Amino acid sequence: MNFRRQTGYFMLLVPALLLFESCRREEPLPIGKHQGKQTTPVNPSALYPASFGAPFLPSDNPFTEEAMYLGRMLFYDPILSRDSTVSCASCHRQDKAFAQPTKVSAGIFGIQGNRNASALFNMAWQRALFWDGRHRRMRDLIFEPIQDHREMAMNIPLLDAKLKRTPRYKEWFARAYDAEPDVFHMSLAMEQFLLSIVSANSKFDRFFPRNLSVFTPQERDGFFFFNETPDDTIRPATGADCFHCHGGIHAQTIDPSVGIVNNGLDEVITDKGLGGITGRSFDIGKFKAPSLRNLSYTAPYMHDGRFATLEEVIDHYSDGIDFKSPNLSPLINHGNRHLKFTPAQKAALLAFLRTMDDSTLVTDPRYSNPFR
Ligand code: HEC
Ligand code: HEC
Repeated sequence: MNFRRQTGYFMLLVPALLLFESCRREEPLPIGKHQGKQTTPVNPSALYPASFGAPFLPSDNPFTEEAMYLGRMLFYDPILSRDSTVSCASCHRQDKAFAQPTKVSAGIFGIQGNRNASALFNMAWQRALFWDGRHRRMRDLIFEPIQDHREMAMNIPLLDAKLKRTPRYKEWFARAYDAEPDVFHMSLAMEQFLLSIVSANSKFDRFFPRNLSVFTPQERDGFFFFNETPDDTIRPATGADCFHCHGGIHAQTIDPSVGIVNNGLDEVITDKGLGGITGRSFDIGKFKAPSLRNLSYTAPYMHDGRFATLEEVIDHYSDGIDFKSPNLSPLINHGNRHLKFTPAQKAALLAFLRTMDDSTLVTDPRYSNPFR
């Protein structure tokens, strides 16, 4: 195969831009102390790899070992649901990189939602959460699954009361926040745990930014194919041009103003995505381009879990883009013609994608169920 090699440098642009961003600043909280008397502070630089750029951390919820552990307990605790059967981890399974291996999620009483449960890692760099990017702050997002009648179907006063009468929470809310259990401090602790989940131990991390020697020849071909722009007049394509939406160390465009787009799945849109949030017709059909890390664990794929395998995903980008899809991203429309990858190009792309698997995330004891 003769892939052109110049465009791989785009991979370097995204993290370089990130370094110039400062940490996200939040308004200081009006009430409460938000820290216990004898907590053990955790320096974010001990959690996060420098290569990832500056994380977007709330300034009013400093990491402590106690609050992170409390957040982890709450994440795994089914008492957060109405009938104490469903925890966050029911849908966000560690062995699946915190995704759920079903098309759309199933929650309390077996009721199905309409979207595929997102994988959860490297969220400290996410500026828009959920498939449609409707949340910015983790502590606010948490209340949505807890109250959703299809997910955990809980109400807040009941949850507050349940937390207050659980002895382990009396102990741990005091340790972490010097406070009685309540849903506000609950959301802070869960925010800490979620923001602490990092996946940075893949072959791709050993490669980044340009140590090509870690790759097999096929992975290397896949890397170049992923990062090259096709010549729109030639078929099969000379490059697959994935990097515009999934490039850089995060394998994702994390700037929501350009990272929430339509990748051409359907002509007729049933789930409006971003358009359902903003109410604007030019946002209909736009979804967040997710990170392509850990794909071997996170099947099925897309916001509705329509593709069971990565082969199907690659076939979509090769032969399946729907050019009539409303608001189709211009970055994916190469002259209204399918790119038509060869079998060797598809195999190389797949091999490269698998270099972004991190087998330590799925067993890391820092994120595992503390009740076992
Ligand atoms: C019934 C299954 C279910 C349960 C239970 C559940 N989730 Fe989710 N989660 C989902 C689905 C589905 C999505 C995608 C929703 C969307 O985009 O509209 C999601 C998305 C998320 C995201 C967005 C990640 C990103 O990068 O955009 C976060 C964070 C999250 N969930 C955290 C939690 C937490 C914390 C809990 C427990 C309080 C929880 N979830 C409980 C199914 C579930
Ligand atoms: C124009 C931006 C864009 C380009 C270019 C692009 N994608 Fe995507 N990708 C997206 C969006 C948006 C989604 C989510 C779409 C949805 O669920 O509706 C997505 C989803 C995916 C998913 C599913 C991930 C998951 O967790 O469900 C995979 C895998 C993927 N893309 C791989 C690729 C590959 C490989 C290429 C290159 C051949 C590529 N993408 C090119 C925007 C893009």
